[in-house]
Amino acid sequence: MLVSAKEMLTKAKAGHYAVGQFNINNLEWTKSILLTAQELNSPVILGVSEGAGKYMTGFKTVAAMVDAMVDSLGITVPVALHLDHGSYEGAKACIEAGFSSIMFDGSHYPIDENIAKTKELVAICNEKGLSLEAEVGSIGGEEDGVVGAGECADPDECKAVADLGVTMLAAGIGNIHGKYPDNWAGLSFETLDAIQAKTGDMPLVLHGGTGIPEDMIKKAISLGVAKINVNTECQLSFAEATRKYIEAGKDLEGKGFDPRKLLAPGAEAIKATVKEKMELFGSVGKA
Ligand code: 13P
Repeated sequence: MLVSAKEMLTKAKAGHYAVGQFNINNLEWTKSILLTAQELNSPVILGVSEGAGKYMTGFKTVAAMVDAMVDSLGITVPVALHLDHGSYEGAKACIEAGFSSIMFDGSHYPIDENIAKTKELVAICNEKGLSLEAEVGSIGGEEDGVVGAGECADPDECKAVADLGVTMLAAGIGNIHGKYPDNWAGLSFETLDAIQAKTGDMPLVLHGGTGIPEDMIKKAISLGVAKINVNTECQLSFAEATRKYIEAGKDLEGKGFDPRKLLAPGAEAIKATVKEKMELFGSVGKA
């Protein structure tokens, strides 16, 4: 059964560790993450972007697949199925489709509109027992080859959004999605500290988990980060393992072209990446 992320994140914040959100793109990805979480006895959040949802033929397909897979693999650790960077319409569609957790990313709206829309979704999610993540201060990333810097959130705006009763809050602290550029200034711990001082027990979310040095991850957790999102690193390890398999000509040998064999090295690589992150985040054994 899929669960809201509330309990696992409340425990993580109190216990000074973070739960990983790993984004899924297909069945193999999902299976690798679920099996690793179970093996390590760790809670886990499966993230689904709107694009990935569309790719997998819709949110209903994703919810049905994940729900059935948790059951058929005998997964007993807490698993939340979470919409990543949802639009207002996407959030409503995922609530309808059976997701157990929602992110509404209203960071591109003026703060008043972000607050109004988040407030409406808090009421719906509360009624249905779903967790809700809100965002303040945009998270940078690459668009058309240009890497935008992550904007730092205003701690007072963070407090205003946290006070709406959201479950967790993503706040920009200089983090960006994808690979970090060589001249990246690093995370702004000053901003994170100020946000935590204003938002108290609220679990904070760190997006752009790929490529953040280990010491910065640990410091962020010590300053209230209880959920860390990882996507690009799983994609890179999947691509690298698949490339090696093909370059070695294994797809042309024996039955190596069988999709189950062709995708196996990538699936194993994702397991290794997820394990490494769960160990770093401290969620192993916390289910
Ligand atoms: P990365 O792709 O940088 O790991 O970021 C993932 C993320 O924050 C998804 O919301």
